[in-house]
Amino acid sequence: MSFLSATLNRVKPSPTIAMSTKAGELKAAGQDVISLSAGEPDFDTPQNIKDAAVAAIAAGKTKYTAPDGIIELKEAICAKFKRDNDLAYTPAQISVGTGGKQILYNALMATLNEGDEVVIPAPYWVSYPDMVLLAGGTPVVAEASIQTGFKLTPDQLEAAITDKTKWLIFNSPSNPTGAGYSWEELKALTDVLMRHPHVWIMSDDMYEHLTFGDFEFCSPAQVEPALYDRTLTVNGVSKAYAMTGWRIGYAGGPTELISAMRKVQSQSTSNPCSISQWAAVEALNGTQDYIEDNKALFQRRRDLVVGLLNDAQGIACPTPDGAFYVYPSIADCIGKTSAQGTKITDDEAFATALLEETGIAVVFGAAFGMSPNFRISYATSDAELTDACTRIQQFCAGLT
Ligand SMILES: Cc1ncc(COP(=O)(O)O)c(C=O)c1O
Repeated sequence: MSFLSATLNRVKPSPTIAMSTKAGELKAAGQDVISLSAGEPDFDTPQNIKDAAVAAIAAGKTKYTAPDGIIELKEAICAKFKRDNDLAYTPAQISVGTGGKQILYNALMATLNEGDEVVIPAPYWVSYPDMVLLAGGTPVVAEASIQTGFKLTPDQLEAAITDKTKWLIFNSPSNPTGAGYSWEELKALTDVLMRHPHVWIMSDDMYEHLTFGDFEFCSPAQVEPALYDRTLTVNGVSKAYAMTGWRIGYAGGPTELISAMRKVQSQSTSNPCSISQWAAVEALNGTQDYIEDNKALFQRRRDLVVGLLNDAQGIACPTPDGAFYVYPSIADCIGKTSAQGTKITDDEAFATALLEETGIAVVFGAAFGMSPNFRISYATSDAELTDACTRIQQFCAGLT
């Protein structure tokens, strides 16, 4: 009899973390490595947010809290949903967790029974399929294509839905592609869901505040108010406020679902960190001025990276609408051989050879459910991005 749980056997460790670990090892061994694999902003949490945390410690706000969040934070989240998304939630409809990741996981744990299916458009964030598996459900991957800008079409969604479908996980702007759905594109998908009243939608809006140019963010319950009663709108402070380490995520949804998620959380982590919750109150209620500055910074980096990658032989890099990732295709590199003799059989071979031969760490597309591609996180300095993309250009030029 195996000591480890059978459920765990179905799940793979996060490939993004595996790539960062390998890059760290090479760096420790003295290699000149640039890691473009981490999914977090490279700048510090704003000072007003840090100050709020220090004040919370000084005031002794260091004890257990209500399992799914202090009322002050729930009220700040309700105000945020109204302000940014025109969505009306009451505090009883809000759940706060240890990161958006725990919120998504709680929701799946609270709702999935064996045999329940969850539609996940690919390319997808690496954790979705494994979280579904851990919660006992079955991921159903619906692959979008690069021709539609990595966005799922209504027909593809329709084809993926069965009697067993419980959720669609929706993520715009997307990790790993940066693709964002316009109001019309999202409406076409919500129209499909209107024809299937048993399907709920879990909208992961984590990159809402990182959008570029003319792109305007919208969320499913906003686009189709009739879906409000079967939508969980998920968000967090990690990406917009450079607060990945504070671990605060949240969601708004129907009270019955929110209560069920509270039950899961109360028997697992009890409550998110009290100090981080007070910091998040300040993040949401305090100045939002730096959001525009961050957008401008990331847009400049996006343009730098897209330009340099499209100059590399064999790489085709679409221009994303948001987030801080690009997801270029390397279809024209497959079958070639690197300068040091590695056969590029697939995107994993490409990423491994790139790391070993040039010191650039990226994540291969198979990890996100679409190949042959790779993901770059451009949340790093212009100098590092230029150096990294130049090395990628040289690597591609050396393929024969
Ligand atoms: C699409 C997406 N959703 C959710 C998360 C989780 O963020 P956190 O748990 O830090 O709130 C991430 C983090 O990388 C993400 O990329």
